[in-house]
Amino acid sequence: MERVIVPDELEEDTGVEQTLRPAWLADYIGQSKIKENIRIFISAAKMRQEPLEHVLLYGPPGLGKTTLAHVIAHEMGTHIRVTSGPAIERAGDLASILTNLSDGDILFIDEVHRLNRLIEEVLYPAMEDYHLDIIIGKGPSARTVTIDLPHFTLIGATTRASLISSPLRDRFGSVFHLDFYSHEEMNDIIQRSARILSLAIEDAATQEIAQRSRKTPRIANRLLRRVRDYCQVKGDGSIGHSMTKESLAHLDIDHLGLDSVDRKILQFIIEKYQGGPVGLGTIAAATSEEEATIEDVYEPFLIQIGFLHRTPRGRMATPAAYDHLGGEERKLL
Ligand code: ADE
Repeated sequence: MERVIVPDELEEDTGVEQTLRPAWLADYIGQSKIKENIRIFISAAKMRQEPLEHVLLYGPPGLGKTTLAHVIAHEMGTHIRVTSGPAIERAGDLASILTNLSDGDILFIDEVHRLNRLIEEVLYPAMEDYHLDIIIGKGPSARTVTIDLPHFTLIGATTRASLISSPLRDRFGSVFHLDFYSHEEMNDIIQRSARILSLAIEDAATQEIAQRSRKTPRIANRLLRRVRDYCQVKGDGSIGHSMTKESLAHLDIDHLGLDSVDRKILQFIIEKYQGGPVGLGTIAAATSEEEATIEDVYEPFLIQIGFLHRTPRGRMATPAAYDHLGGEERKLL
């Protein structure tokens, strides 16, 4: 089964995501506390004519960490250079990125928890005092050269704050936790995207997509496009409620946004372990998913909607999960 509810960015998303991405804080829906804080510290930095302090954004994938980094750059009127932890393989890669920045520029490192530790150590003095210590040569003739860097702002993003080493975490001036979006916010996001894509969509269809998007904008935008395609092929292109339900049922997404893997996880815990607790490794083996995928992608939402508990002895399914699975056959359409 093709996976449409994974919040990771897929190739199909790249172009459209950029079209749908809000450019300004005022267009960014939800995360109101974070927006308020960002507004204040952007104004303060502008008044002092200083670059922003380094920012760490954490939260489940698809909630808008990259989007927020672009918005901050836009609001500051600076350039943003985008890279990711695993893409920086050698200290030299980081040195070349840093030395090519200008004062006030933003360096966005996605999956910053996946930076290798040696590279992290190069980053510490860069973040703290805007300089690099490069060792040239080997053995007794080796010497350290210090290179001054532009006053840049690092925006790091990670799915879980606990994955970041504490020396790195301590060097961020602010740490923001992005949370899942409310139903109303999801509705607004879908309406906004439909407007940008010039789609005629019924209110009930918007609500339906919002309900099934795991409180995650990236998934909502993806489902909207799938529903659009379906309505174009099966109907006249306008997005009505019943066709929306039909197309989402085809994608095997139930009325709460759970897909077959979510259901497999819950069913396994309930049927094979009487509701748990079950260790993460056992769940991963039974579902053929990576442990990290279960922890970063599936669990946060299942926990958020009260279907799963994390306990020191393992994961447990809640009575709400039993209820949902019991009635699901009926509700899929
Ligand atoms: N698209 C994705 N995330 C968004 C958000 N938070 N606000 C507006 N549009 C979005």
